[in-house]
Amino acid sequence: MTPIPTGQAPGPTEPRILTFRPRRGRVTPRQQRALDLLWSSYGAEVTAGALDVEALYRRRAPLVLEIGFGMGEATAALAQAEPERDLLAVDVHTPGVGSLLHQLSDRALTNVRVMVGDALDVLHDMLPPASLDEIRVFFPDPWPKARHHKRRLVGPAFAALVGSRLRPGGRLHCATDWAHYARQMLEVVAAEPTLVNTHGGFAPRPAWRPVTRFEQRGLARGHEVFDVIARRPGAHPASAARTAARRELGELPYGSG
Ligand SMILES: C[S@@+](CC[C@H](N)C(=O)[O-])C[C@H]1O[C@@H](n2cnc3c(N)ncnc32)[C@H](O)[C@@H]1O
Repeated sequence: MTPIPTGQAPGPTEPRILTFRPRRGRVTPRQQRALDLLWSSYGAEVTAGALDVEALYRRRAPLVLEIGFGMGEATAALAQAEPERDLLAVDVHTPGVGSLLHQLSDRALTNVRVMVGDALDVLHDMLPPASLDEIRVFFPDPWPKARHHKRRLVGPAFAALVGSRLRPGGRLHCATDWAHYARQMLEVVAAEPTLVNTHGGFAPRPAWRPVTRFEQRGLARGHEVFDVIARRPGAHPASAARTAARRELGELPYGSG
């Protein structure tokens, strides 16, 4: 049986700078119940081997990776809005895993799997090149102090890895309420030859992107919110061209239609 997550990231095989702060956090009784009862339905282990995506979801569908789902509000809402896409949600925060599991069960969703561990391992070791339709990074840890900027997830090495794992035409969607990090995201995308900024600068906030807990927190502090959307150049299937154009206009989530 798949073990229940502990909230501890698996030990990295080599010394590395973590993009998250390992923390335990208090698991509520409701979250613990979800972990006990639902992990076997939605959970998947982080391993060093390639992921058998078709076996995991019992179908072949476009795959979206969400890195750092927090309490999982956006994950569950978008998975429900995009039943034709499969979602792989990765985080290290146990209370959030419990929270996401019960939302998935409440909504009777079957297109989401949850992993507990460092998403960089998942991206690097488990997902082959050109395997992802989209990668979402909503409100990554901002690491605002200059001496911690090296811990930010969205940096040059990440962008190169993202570019290799997206299929041609696939997207990277980042959002942050930290202006300095937002500018860094723009610079990182501009410098990465396998990615193209779909809007040249910041993207308008897509109406379909749910407000997350960290976004709410940022808004309450008076922060502006920035979306950065990049695309790996390549062909979109011709039949999807009209839908793609509507998505660019922010009328549809990327997976719809
Ligand atoms: C600031 S929180 C934002 C959570 C959520 N997306 C939101 O907007 O409310 C960032 C989340 O990313 C997770 N995280 C950071 N680096 C990660 C990594 N390398 N792998 C998996 N999760 C990571 C953290 O544990 C945390 O839950």
